[in-house]
Amino acid sequence: MLRAVRRHSSATEELQIIAPSKLAIENVSKSFQSASGIVLALDRVSLNVAEAEFVCLVGASGCGKTTMLNIIAGLEKPDSGTVLADGKPVTGPGRERLVMFQEPALFPWLDVFGNVLFGLNEAACLAGARSGT
Ligand SMILES: Nc1ncnc2c1ncn2[C@@H]1O[C@H](COP(=O)(O)OP(=O)(O)OP(=O)(O)O)[C@@H](O)[C@H]1O
Ligand SMILES: [Mg+2]
Repeated sequence: MLRAVRRHSSATEELQIIAPSKLAIENVSKSFQSASGIVLALDRVSLNVAEAEFVCLVGASGCGKTTMLNIIAGLEKPDSGTVLADGKPVTGPGRERLVMFQEPALFPWLDVFGNVLFGLNEAACLAGARSGT
C-alpha cells in the first residue's frame, strides 16, 4: 500500500514520508498598518521545509519575504497561522534559528570576532542576571 502511494506522490510528499518537516509554516497571514492604510504582507502562506532541504524565497520587492523570515526567526508574530520548527511552535527568537539581515547590522567599531562575541556576551549576561550570578 505504501509503495502504491509513493509511486504516485509528488517529490514534496516523498520528502514528507521520508523525513518530518524541519520547518512547517501553516496558513500564516500578516498585515501592517502603514500611513496609506493596511498592507497585507502575507496571505495564508503555507510551506514545509525538510531537514537539509535548501529553499529560496524569490519574489518582487515588497511581496513579504523579509516578513516571512522575521516570523520564522520569531522577531515578528503572525496575525494568524502557525510556524513549527522541529515540531515546536515558534514563539520568539531561539538559538536554533538564525537570520542574516539584508542590511549591514554590524558594529563598525568592533572587528569580526568582536561582532560575533557581542551577542554571546549579551546572552551570558542575560543568563547571569536570570540566575543572579
Ligand atoms: N513594519 C512595517 N510597517 C508597515 N509596513 C510594513 C512593515 N514591514 C513590512 N511592511 C510592508 O509589508 C510588505 C512586505 O514587506 P517585506 O519587507 O516583507 O517585503 P520583501 O519581499 O522582503 O521586500 P524586499 O525584496 O524589498 O526586501 C511591504 O509592502 C512593506 O512595505
Ligand atoms: Mg526583504
